[in-house]
Amino acid sequence: MPRAPAARLNQIGSALLIAAGAPPEEAEIVMRHCIDANLAGHDSHGIIQIPTYIDRIAAGHIVPGAKWDIVQESATTTVVDGNWGFGYVANERAMKYTIEKARTANVAAATVFRQGHIGRLASYPLMAAEAGMIGLITADSGRAPKHVAPFGGREARLGTNPISIAVPSDLDGPLFLDMATSAVAAGKVSLAAARGQAIPEGWILDPEGNPTNDPKQLRAGGALLPLGGSEGYKGTGLAVMVEILCGLLTGLGFGIDPTGRHNDGCFMAVFNVEAFRPLATFKREVADFAAFLKATPPSVGSPGVFYPGEIEHLKEMERRREGIEVEEATWKKLQALAAGYGLTERLGLG
Ligand SMILES: NC(=O)c1ccc[n+]([C@@H]2O[C@H](COP(=O)([O-])OP(=O)(O)OC[C@H]3O[C@@H](n4cnc5c(N)ncnc54)[C@H](O)[C@@H]3O)[C@@H](O)[C@H]2O)c1
Repeated sequence: MPRAPAARLNQIGSALLIAAGAPPEEAEIVMRHCIDANLAGHDSHGIIQIPTYIDRIAAGHIVPGAKWDIVQESATTTVVDGNWGFGYVANERAMKYTIEKARTANVAAATVFRQGHIGRLASYPLMAAEAGMIGLITADSGRAPKHVAPFGGREARLGTNPISIAVPSDLDGPLFLDMATSAVAAGKVSLAAARGQAIPEGWILDPEGNPTNDPKQLRAGGALLPLGGSEGYKGTGLAVMVEILCGLLTGLGFGIDPTGRHNDGCFMAVFNVEAFRPLATFKREVADFAAFLKATPPSVGSPGVFYPGEIEHLKEMERRREGIEVEEATWKKLQALAAGYGLTERLGLG
């Protein structure tokens, strides 16, 4: 697989997005979030997504330069219509706005609807953590086609409906939870398909409802399983709550419109730590808590305990040193796009 430094992948993605019609400042935001996902080890949400976003721009599903409208507002709440712009752009702006409200009101929340894919969820609550606040975000895919079967069913009726919460701390790497409520993110199944790899049992069902290791069975009409294995009803329960916050509270609705655009409805909330505890004390205690968890002796065959977010931090340090591997199938798509825009030479993609 080709390997490249983060900055080079960022430059390639930005140039392609701009060629596809994105304003440079929007391309910068999209690529910053995508390459951060690669650095964190979530390649399913990294540069692999750029060809898909360019297809969506061509289809009119993503509208570069879209307006960002507040349709309802109070001192602590905001409802944002993203007008089908890049999810990264609309959502980052909504999170900045929510953090500003929490600076005066201590607690603030927002919903965002009609926007494209927002990628790796942790990107947004981490903005709150950097501001000394606790950030929470959930996302669902509106009435776009679904991937996840509810517990006990075999047809997809739910999105992968992820949740992320980040907190400020004195740790070297940020402490955050960032997880799909399905057994695995759909992007990881697509990534395995792109890499020709088998997937573990327990991730998906084939179209007849049988467990399978073949990632291609998902696109063939199969379904992702909910988080939790034999206790998958807990994953389904979380996914239902996410969909109520992001689909129903935003007004996007539930169910499936087969022609539906990908539409990351979002709910986000920010809590100012200083309204509850002194920030410095809280940050120190979060670090002490993580150390307490990590001090447990490892179970048999385990490398030990990682606090939530630590795996991503370790991966980021490794990838900043050694670069990011990109699967051949994605590299070829980037080369083909560059050729189409006459950018092969400028981007060194020959
Ligand atoms: N925008 C969307 O529509 C969408 C949908 C689904 C998922 N996603 C994104 O996909 C990415 C992958 O999601 P996922 O559910 O596959 O994540 P994952 O299973 O890799 O990680 C989930 C959480 O577990 C922690 N973790 C992972 N391994 C660990 C270990 N060994 N010990 C302790 N903690 C550990 C991680 O820090 C993370 O907080 C996330 O960034 C998510 O936001 C986005």
